Amino acid sequence: MGDVQAWLVKARALLESNQVNVAPYRYTRPAPSRYEHQWLWDSCFHAIIYRHFDPRMACDELLSVVAKQVQSGPDAGMIPHMTYWRGGGGELWGDDTRSIITQPPLIAIAAQRVYEKHPDNAFLARLYPSICAYHQWFDRRRDTDNDDLVCIIHPWESGWDASPRWDRPMGLSENPSDEEAREARKNLVAILRQYDNDPQRLMDNGYFCVESADFNAIRAADLESLGWMAETLGKTDESSQWRQKARRVQEAIRQKMTFGERVYDLAGPDETAIAEPTAGEFVTLFGGVPSAETAQALVERLQLPANWPRFPVPTSPTTASLFRGNRYWRGNVWLNVNWLIWSGLRRYGYYQLAQMLTERSLALVELSGWHEYFHPDTGEGYGSFPHSWSALVLDMLIVDT
Ligand code: GLC
Repeated sequence: MGDVQAWLVKARALLESNQVNVAPYRYTRPAPSRYEHQWLWDSCFHAIIYRHFDPRMACDELLSVVAKQVQSGPDAGMIPHMTYWRGGGGELWGDDTRSIITQPPLIAIAAQRVYEKHPDNAFLARLYPSICAYHQWFDRRRDTDNDDLVCIIHPWESGWDASPRWDRPMGLSENPSDEEAREARKNLVAILRQYDNDPQRLMDNGYFCVESADFNAIRAADLESLGWMAETLGKTDESSQWRQKARRVQEAIRQKMTFGERVYDLAGPDETAIAEPTAGEFVTLFGGVPSAETAQALVERLQLPANWPRFPVPTSPTTASLFRGNRYWRGNVWLNVNWLIWSGLRRYGYYQLAQMLTERSLALVELSGWHEYFHPDTGEGYGSFPHSWSALVLDMLIVDT
């Protein structure tokens, strides 16, 4: 295994090089130039990394991410997936300071992990009402059919922007070009604005509306952590309500999305299962979703060469017809996805496999540096550089050791 101290020094230098001070706030940009602004799930991952060497910054990162939480209107409570601290969002979103969509909710999870290293009840108390409002917003606004599964209304909300699993629900052609898909994602923002972000109306008119298994699994884990936060703050009743909600989400994923050994995303009003296989299924382990039996089947599948090549885990299996190891989200390795799968493996007791994933992830960074994403066969790095969340390998290494 790697040398913890050496990795810590490298990870720290990376995050510090991407730190931005916008007094009284501080955040970490995902990468220079291409990603100058603040992104929601990136910041949650950054906090998890910072906890190992700068817990104050970990707290600041999470406090800045909720600063532009929506305060009024039908989306009150939503935490935006992007905060534009220096402005610039106006043209696309109609709001200069923030986007109008969200991203996978990991904020209570991040707060809990930070607290493990740096117990600070005042910090939890500051964050708690925001996270409560966020999850209430999900239930009120994004669960149109009251089945405990929330929907996403743009591929950007999944965090997996260009995954082949979104091609069909986006109405794209078979194996679309990057250009076509990018254009469609941009155009969808104008449509969201036209429909006031209303999932029901968007769905009724045939636009992208997907109940994603991994998104909901992450939400279940976040609800569990919110339950833990409430308990730590002495709010026993609220704690049991959040935990109950987490169990209902897990149960809904088992009941409605799991067929045999596979877990599916559901698209549109008919909740059509999206057949395209991706590593999103493995992320359901993170949310404590699969039964022990399904988990075993998932873990066996994870170890097949198509999912476990030289550098696991490709976001699409290397045998899938739409797999492209060098194209954005169409089969590359992303270290935040590895972190989620690694956490899930540990949750289900697959410690050895988790450790192997850590080793391969460290080897990948050693070979290619702090890239945004990587080819699963060659390890070649692509995208922005240096990319902050790739330092999640530090958390994996420290927790494993
Ligand atoms: C890309 C990724 C998204 C991430 C953002 C910033 O858009 O698809 O998941 O949050 O970059 O790193």
